[in-house]
Amino acid sequence: MGKALIVFATRSGGTKKLAELIAEGLRIAGHEAELKRVTDIKKPEDLNGYDAYVFGSATYHGKMINLMERMLFLAEKADLEGKPGGAFGSYGWSGEAPDRIYSTMENIFKMDMTGGSLRVKPAYVMNPDGIKAAQEYGKNIAKKIS
Ligand SMILES: Cc1cc2nc3c(=O)[nH]c(=O)nc-3n(C[C@H](O)[C@H](O)[C@H](O)COP(=O)(O)O)c2cc1C
Repeated sequence: MGKALIVFATRSGGTKKLAELIAEGLRIAGHEAELKRVTDIKKPEDLNGYDAYVFGSATYHGKMINLMERMLFLAEKADLEGKPGGAFGSYGWSGEAPDRIYSTMENIFKMDMTGGSLRVKPAYVMNPDGIKAAQEYGKNIAKKIS
C-alpha cells in the first residue's frame, strides 16, 4: 500500500471537492491519500515521504491561485523525480491552472505523470459524471504507485 499527497488551492470550494473525490479513488484502489491545503506546505520537506503527488488549483484570471505558484517553487526543491503525479482543478471556461501545474510537474520536476490533467466545471463537480471522472483520476494515479 502506498500513500499519496493531494495539495489543493481553492477559493469557493470546487477544487477541494475534487481533491476529496480523487482521494476516494486512491483509497478505493487500496492506497492512503492525505489532503492538504496549499498553505499547509511551508517548506520543501513538507512534501517528503509520499509515493505519489496530486496538485490542484482553480483558475482565476487565466492563472492558478498564486499560493499554488509559491508551493510549486517549494516543490522544485523537493525530490519528486520519477514519482507518480497528477494535476487538477475546477474552472469556468478556460481552465489554464491544471495544465500549467501538470506541465511544471512533468518538465521541471520530471515526474511520472498520469496522461493529462483533470479539469471539471463547477456544475459537474457534484454530479455523477464529475464524481466518476475525479474518482477515476485517483484510480489511474493509484495504478502508477508500485
Ligand atoms: C473573478 C473570477 C475570475 C475567474 N477567472 C476564470 C478564468 O480566467 N478562467 C476560467 O476557466 N475560470 C475562471 N473563473 C471561474 C472559476 O475558475 C470557477 O468558478 C471555479 O469553479 C472556481 O473553483 P474553486 O471553487 O475551487 O475556487 C473565474 C471566477 C471568478 C469569480
